[in-house]
Amino acid sequence: MQRLLYISTSRSRVTQPVIDEILRVSRRNNAAAGVTGLLIAGGNRFLQVLEGDDLAVSRTFDRIQRDDRHFAMVQLAKQTITERSFGSWAMGFASGAAPGGGATSPAATIAALIAPIEDPTLRGYFTGFADLHLSAA
Ligand SMILES: Cc1cc2nc3c(=O)[nH]c(=O)nc-3n(C[C@H](O)[C@H](O)[C@H](O)COP(=O)(O)O)c2cc1C
Repeated sequence: MQRLLYISTSRSRVTQPVIDEILRVSRRNNAAAGVTGLLIAGGNRFLQVLEGDDLAVSRTFDRIQRDDRHFAMVQLAKQTITERSFGSWAMGFASGAAPGGGATSPAATIAALIAPIEDPTLRGYFTGFADLHLSAA
């Protein structure tokens, strides 16, 4: 199996309807292809991790790469894995806005989400993204 992590920039403001549509299609396709992962939106940036069989991940990534809702895609990591870290989500999601306007800080949200990840480099990408792009404001 493979785990792939990339960052990209949205062409337009990332609104809830935009997110809802991306997640609806992603969850349908990923469930069918056995792909799992996590999408984080902050400011106009996306950070996404995809996990699954090599072919399923590369096909999904190729499709995402051709999507003109975002650009400046940079692949940050590509690893062979034996176990999934995000196996419970066809595509999990987090953003800078705390769910329900609660008091949870973006840093705490991200810390909880990446709890299953041991790789320090990978952890660094997530915490760095939270520091740079997720703010309560
Ligand atoms: C930031 C971002 C993340 C996306 N993630 C996924 C994904 O995990 N899986 C997926 O199938 N499509 C994802 N998409 C959508 C694809 O780019 C593409 O629109 C979709 O796969 C087309 O599916 P369809 O041919 O079934 O309509 C994503 C798009 C964006 C902008």
